[in-house]
Amino acid sequence: MGSLKTDEEVDQIGEGSKEAILYVNGVRRVLPDGLAHLTLLEYLREIVGLTGTKLGCGEGGCGACTVMVSYYDEKLKKCLHYAINACLAPLYSVEGMHVITVEGVGNSKGGLHPIQESLARSHGSQCGFCTPGFIMSMYALLRSSQTPPSEEQIEECLAGNLCRCTGYRPIVDAFRVFAKTDDMLYTEASSLSLQEHEFVCPSTGKPCSCRSKTESNNNKCSLGQGTVCMERFRPVSYSEIEGSKYTDKELIFPPELLLRKSSPLNLSGFGGLRWFRPLRLQHLLELKAKYPDVKLLVGNSEVGIEMRLKRMDYRVLIFVMHVPELNALNVKDDGIEIGAAVRLSELMKVFRRVIAERAAHETIACKAFLEQLKWFAGTQIKNVASVGGNICTASPISDLNPLWMAARAEFQITDCKGNTRTTPAENFFLGYRKVDLSRNEILQSIFLPWTRPFEFVKEFKQAHRREDDIAIVNAGIRVFLEQRGENQVVTDASIVYGGVAPLSLSARTTKEFLIGKLWNQELLEGALKVLQKDILIKDDAPGGMVEFRKSLTLSFFFKFFLWVSHQIDGAQCNKKSVPLSYQSAVESFHRPPVIGSQDYDITRHGTAVGSPEVHLSSRLQVTGEAAYADDTPLPPNGLHAALVLSKKPHARILSIDDSGAKSLPGFVGIYFTDSIPGDNKIGAVIADEELFASEYVTCVGQVIGVVVADTHENAKLAARKVHVEYEELPAILLIQDAINAKSFLPNTEKWMRKGDVDLCFQSGQCDKVIEGEVHVGGQEHFYLEPNSSVIWTMDGGNEVHMISSTQAPQKHQKYVSHVLGLPMSKVVCKTKRIGGGFGGKETRSAFIAAAASVPSYLLNRPVKITLDRDTDMMISGQRHSFFGKYKVGFTNGGKVLALDLEIYNNAGNSLDLSLAVLERAMFHSDNVYEIPNVRIMGRVCFTNIPSNTAFRGFGGPQGMLITENWIQRIAVELKKSPEEIREINFQGEGSVLHYGQQLQHCTLAQVWNELKLSCEFSKAREEVDQFNSHNRWKKRGISMVPTKFGISFTLKLMNQAGALVHVYTDGTVLVTHGGVEMGQGLHTKVAQVAASAFNIPLSSVFISETSTDKIPNASPTAASASSDMYGAAVLDACEQIKARMEPIAAKHNFSSFAELASACYVARIDLSAHGFYITPDIGFDWVTGKGNPFRYFTYGAAFAEVEIDTLTGDFHTRVANVILDLGHSLNPAIDVGQIEGAFIQGLGWVALEELKWGDPAHKWIPPGYLYTCGPGSYKIPSLNDVPFKFNVSLLKGHPNVKAIHSSKAVGEPPFFLASAAFFAIKDAIASVRAEVGNNDWFPLDNPATPERIRMACLDQFTEPFIGASFRPKLSV
Ligand SMILES: Cc1cc2nc3c(=O)[nH]c(=O)nc-3n(C[C@H](O)[C@H](O)[C@H](O)COP(=O)(O)OP(=O)(O)OC[C@H]3O[C@@H](n4cnc5c(N)ncnc54)[C@H](O)[C@@H]3O)c2cc1C
Ligand code: FES
Ligand code: FES
Repeated sequence: MGSLKTDEEVDQIGEGSKEAILYVNGVRRVLPDGLAHLTLLEYLREIVGLTGTKLGCGEGGCGACTVMVSYYDEKLKKCLHYAINACLAPLYSVEGMHVITVEGVGNSKGGLHPIQESLARSHGSQCGFCTPGFIMSMYALLRSSQTPPSEEQIEECLAGNLCRCTGYRPIVDAFRVFAKTDDMLYTEASSLSLQEHEFVCPSTGKPCSCRSKTESNNNKCSLGQGTVCMERFRPVSYSEIEGSKYTDKELIFPPELLLRKSSPLNLSGFGGLRWFRPLRLQHLLELKAKYPDVKLLVGNSEVGIEMRLKRMDYRVLIFVMHVPELNALNVKDDGIEIGAAVRLSELMKVFRRVIAERAAHETIACKAFLEQLKWFAGTQIKNVASVGGNICTASPISDLNPLWMAARAEFQITDCKGNTRTTPAENFFLGYRKVDLSRNEILQSIFLPWTRPFEFVKEFKQAHRREDDIAIVNAGIRVFLEQRGENQVVTDASIVYGGVAPLSLSARTTKEFLIGKLWNQELLEGALKVLQKDILIKDDAPGGMVEFRKSLTLSFFFKFFLWVSHQIDGAQCNKKSVPLSYQSAVESFHRPPVIGSQDYDITRHGTAVGSPEVHLSSRLQVTGEAAYADDTPLPPNGLHAALVLSKKPHARILSIDDSGAKSLPGFVGIYFTDSIPGDNKIGAVIADEELFASEYVTCVGQVIGVVVADTHENAKLAARKVHVEYEELPAILLIQDAINAKSFLPNTEKWMRKGDVDLCFQSGQCDKVIEGEVHVGGQEHFYLEPNSSVIWTMDGGNEVHMISSTQAPQKHQKYVSHVLGLPMSKVVCKTKRIGGGFGGKETRSAFIAAAASVPSYLLNRPVKITLDRDTDMMISGQRHSFFGKYKVGFTNGGKVLALDLEIYNNAGNSLDLSLAVLERAMFHSDNVYEIPNVRIMGRVCFTNIPSNTAFRGFGGPQGMLITENWIQRIAVELKKSPEEIREINFQGEGSVLHYGQQLQHCTLAQVWNELKLSCEFSKAREEVDQFNSHNRWKKRGISMVPTKFGISFTLKLMNQAGALVHVYTDGTVLVTHGGVEMGQGLHTKVAQVAASAFNIPLSSVFISETSTDKIPNASPTAASASSDMYGAAVLDACEQIKARMEPIAAKHNFSSFAELASACYVARIDLSAHGFYITPDIGFDWVTGKGNPFRYFTYGAAFAEVEIDTLTGDFHTRVANVILDLGHSLNPAIDVGQIEGAFIQGLGWVALEELKWGDPAHKWIPPGYLYTCGPGSYKIPSLNDVPFKFNVSLLKGHPNVKAIHSSKAVGEPPFFLASAAFFAIKDAIASVRAEVGNNDWFPLDNPATPERIRMACLDQFTEPFIGASFRPKLSV
C-alpha cells in the first residue's frame, strides 16, 4: 500500500484518494511505497511482467520503451493521451494515470489492432525489437487525434523511434494508411466501404487495385514507374477466435480515474530517496524551504540522465507537473505567460494557436520557437519535458535558451516565502549549468513579449543529425529596425549562441556594433569581422570541432542577415536586396513524406519459395509477444551480474580493492581471474584474450571481474565500487600511431599480387600516376537489443544451460565450456531470436556470457547479464576503421593500369576476426574494376581500444570505399565524370580477379545499365547543374556506384551447415537449423524452403529456436550466406524424409500431408532427418595468393541525389535508386527489406555515424574512452534521413545457378551502395568549390558529417579559421 500523505497534508488538502494507484492496460494496480527509484519501464518489465516494452538505451534516445499514458485533465475536462519514454519516466510520475503498453493494444490471440496488423503485413518489422515502440508512438498519435493525422504528423510522431533494421520506409508505409488521405480508414465504416478487390496502397494511402493485377499475372509481380508492390492489407483487424472487430475492444479510460481526485504524494525509494508530489504552489514552496537542495522534476529528461548515466546522487525529488501555478498559459495583450512546468508539446500547441490568431508581426518569435522545437528531441521527450526544466538545466547547448534571451523574455522567480522577482532571460545564465536562482527560489513562469513591427527573431541549429539531436551550435538572433526613409536602422539587437561556451553566450560587442547602423551590406561585412573576435572558442574546448563551430557562428549571422533582408524585401514589394541565387539559403528545411517503390519479379517454386511472405514472427513482434533473451524470467534464486571494467587503455594492475562492493546491500559475490574453474585464455580465432584481466589491461572497458547481486542496479553499483590501482603504460589508439610504433598483430601481414606493378609504373605505360591516403571511419553496430544472457546450471551444476542474444550460440557454448572446464556436451546455448546483430554478436557477445557463467556455475544459481547501452557500446567492439595508401597508374583515357595499395585496419586489443576482415577488404579492393597489375599489402594494427569485430560487409565496404576514392580522384585528374571512369574499367564475364577467381554469370553491366536508365542519369546531371548555377549556398550532387560482393566465408571450413527436420503425424513440420534469426528473415526463408519441399502450406512449418543441442558445431550466422547454406541443409533433410515417404505415398492417394505422415508413422518410417550442406568449389591458398574464395558474387548499383547546405553542412538525400541482382529471390519482400535496411545503415556509416575516442585527435575525451556511447552522442539514421524517394528493384531474369532455388545472398551486398550518397555529397561540394575557382581534388573522409561537408565548402566564413588543406579530425 502506498504511503501517500502525512496527516498534516491530508488536513491541508482535504479529500483525496488515500492510495497511490495506476492502471496498466485497464487493470488497477496499487503502487506500494518504496519504489521511487524505479522507472515506469522497470516496473512494467520486472514487477508487472509485461516485457513487450523494451529497454534499448535507457536515455530517451531510441523509443523502444514507448508507452501511452492517459490522464483526465480537470481544466480541459477531457482525457489526454500521449506517448512517453517509459525508461525515463519515474514510476510515481504516472500515479493516477492509465498506462497502455503494446500488450494492451492487441495480441495474437485476442486480435491485432489495425496498426499492428498494418505494420506486420507491410514488412515493417525485422528483428522486431524496435517494433512495440513504433506501435505505441503511432497508437498514441491516433488516440490523441480528433481527426486522422496528416502524413507529416505521422512522420513527426516517429521522430523519437529508431530502427536499425528496416530503413523505415515500410514502417511509414504501414502507418500512412491511417493518414488524412482517406479519412475513414481508421473507422469501422472504412473497412466495409472497401470492396473485395480493393486494398490500400501504402504509398498513397488511397484504395487502389494493383494487388489484383499482381496476382493475376501468373504469380509475376512487376511494378515499375513509381508503383508499389507489396502484400496489400486492409487496416482493420479482427479476432480470429471471436470474429469481433478490433475497434469493439479498444481499452477505455478507467472510470475510476475520471472521478478520482488527485492527492499530494510523499513516497520513498531505495537508499532513502524521497519523492513528493505537491498539488499547489504553496505546498511546493514549503517543501523547497524544507529541502533547499531538492531537485524539481517535470519530465525527468535531464535529472533522469544525471542520476542514471552521470551517477549523480539526488536524495529528494519534487514532482511539480501538477502544480497549477506552474502550468499557466496566459495570452496577454503584450505577450504570453508560460508556466515553468508547461511541457514542450503544449507550448507548441499554444504557439500554433497564437500564430493563427494574432497579427503576423507579433508572433515572429513564436514562429522561431516552433521551428526550433520541431528539431528538439523526439515526440516522447517533448510530451514530458518542460520549459522550466530546459531553462534551469542551463545547458550550454539548450536549444531554447538562446531564443529566450534573444526574444527579450523575462523570467518570474518566486522564493519560498512567496515573494516574486523578475529577471531578463539575458541576465539569468551565469556559468556552466549555473543560473540566477538562489537555494530558496524556483522559476515560476516565463513571459515572452510579442514582437513589434520590424522586429525580427530567428532560430538556428546545426546538429550531427537533423532530427532528435542536440546542437553542435545553435543561436537565437533578433534585430529591431526603424524605418528611416528608404533605409532601416538597427535600434536594438541580440545575438545569442549556444554550443560555443559553457553557457548560452551573447555576442555583446557585435550587438553594440549593430546598433545605430543601416541594415545593408556594409553592416554585414563589419558585423562578421566583429563577431569573429566576439565569439572565441578555445582550441581544446570540450566537444571539439572548434573550426566548424566558429564558422557556424558566422554562417548563422549571414543567414540571419539574408533572412531579415528578405523579410524587408517582402514588406517592400519592389525591393530585391537578396539576389535570387541567395534565397534558398534562408529557406527552412521541410521534407516531403517518404515515397518509394519496390520493383521485383515473383518466381515461385512450389507452395512457398519465391513468395513475398511476411516475416514469420511479425505478428508476435508487433504485439510485443516475441520474446528476447532479456525477456526471459529469471528463475527463482536468480542473480544479476555486472562487469568490473578497466578504466585505463593500457596499464599494469597493481591492486584490486573490492571491499566497497562487498559492503553494499544485495551483494552476493565477486569473481576475478583466480576464481575461474577452467581456462582464463579465450579468443575467437586464437586465444589472445583473457576472460578476466590478470596482470595487464589493454583497453578501457576490458573485463577485470564480475559481480553478482540481487538486482541489476545493485550489481552495477557494486561493480563501480571496486577500486583498481593501475600503473599506467603508454597507449596506442590510432592506426597511424600503430604504424609508427610497428604495433601489428603477429602473423597478420598479407599480400596479394597480379601482374607486375613495379614494371608497369616503370614502363611508362601510365600517362598519370596518383598517390593518396584514405581514412575510413568505423561504425557502431547499434543493434537495438543490447547483449544479454541468462545462464543456469542443472543436475547440481553438472550441466550449464543458457539463453543468449548471439549470432553464434556455438561460440557461447565453446567459451563457457572452456572457462568452466566442462565438456562441450554438457553446455547448451539456445537463441530464439535476437534484436539485431549485424556482426556485433558474432564473437563479441561470447565473453560476456562466459563472464556471467563463472558465478552461475560456482554458486549453482541462475545469473542474468544484460548490458546497459553505454557499456555495450564501450566494450563490445565496432566496425574496423581503416587506413589506405594508394598509388594508381592510368591512361589519359581513364583506363587503370596498376594499383599499389597498402591497407591497415584498427583491430583493437585482440585479433578476434580482424585478420579475416582485413582479408575481405583486400579481396574487395578491386570493387568491380579490371586492373591488370595489382599489389596489395595488408596489416592488422594492435591498438588499445576494445577489439573491433565483424560488421555487415566484414571489411568489404572499407576496401571498396578506398577503391572508389581513387576512382573519383582519377575522374578529377582527367576532368571526366567518375561514372565514366567506372564504366571504362568494368570487369565482365570471364574477368580474372587479382586473386585468381574468374567471374562467371557476371551481371554487372545489366544492373548498371538498368540503373542508368531508371535514374535518367544524364537528365539528372543537367538538372543538378542547373540547380547549382542558380543557388549559391545550396548545392546538389549526384553519383552512381556499383558493387560486387563475394559470397562465402573466406575461411573454407566455416562453409558448412546442419539442419534437423521432424515431420509429425498431424502433417506439421518442425525445422531446426544452425542459423540464428536476427531480423533478416532467415527462419522465414528456410521455412519456405521446407514448405515447398513437402508441398505443404508455409503455416505447417515451424522453426522454434537455434540450439547447440540440436545442431552441433554451427558456424556463426554471418557472411550473408545463411539462407544459401541452411536452406540447402534443410532441403537435404526434407529430401531424405521424402525419399523415405515415397514408397508409402506411391501406394495410396492421400488427401493430405497429415494423412501421408500418419501412414508413414504406422509403417514405422523415420520421419526425422538431419541434413547437411557444404559449399562446393571454394578454397583459397594464401601461399600462392590464388583460388576461389567465393561461391559467387552478388552485383548491385545505386544512384543517389543529395542536397547540401554549404553554410552549415546540413544535407539530405533527395533520391536513392538501388538495384540488386538476387537471382530468383526466395522471398522478394524480405530481400527488399534487407536492401533498404542495409542502404540506410550504410548511409549512417558514410554520412552520419562518427565514433569519437579519447585519442590524440580528441584530447578533450579521457584517453581510450569512447565518447559516443549512446544514442545521445552517437547518431544512427532516423526516419528523417531516409531519401525522399527511395526506389528499390531486383534485376529480373537472371537465375543464380550456384545457390538454392536460383537465389542469391542479400544481407551484406547492398550496404556499400550507400556510398552513392557519399560521392553525391562530394559532387555537391565540388560544385561549390568550383564556384570559387577551386577545381582541385580534395579529400573527404567518411562519415561526411555536417562538419566535414561544411569545412570542405571553402568560403569567406571558413577562411578566417582554416586553410585549404584543412581536414577535420577522425578517430581511425
Ligand atoms: C533524448 C533527449 C533529447 C533531448 N533533446 C534536446 C534538444 O534537442 N534540445 C535541448 O535543448 N534539450 C534537449 N534535451 C534536454 C532536456 O530534454 C530538456 O532540457 C528538457 O526541457 C528538460 O525538461 P524536464 O522537464 O525533463 O527537466 P527535468 O529533468 O524534470 O528537470 C531539469 C532541471 O530543471 C530543474 N527545474 C525544473 N523545473 C524547475 C523550476 N520550475 N524551477 C527551478 N528549477 C527547475 C530541476 O531541478 C532539474 O535540475 C534532451 C534530453 C533527452 C533525454
Ligand atoms: S529505452 Fe527508452 S528511449 Fe531507448
Ligand atoms: S526491426 Fe527495427 S530495430 Fe530491428
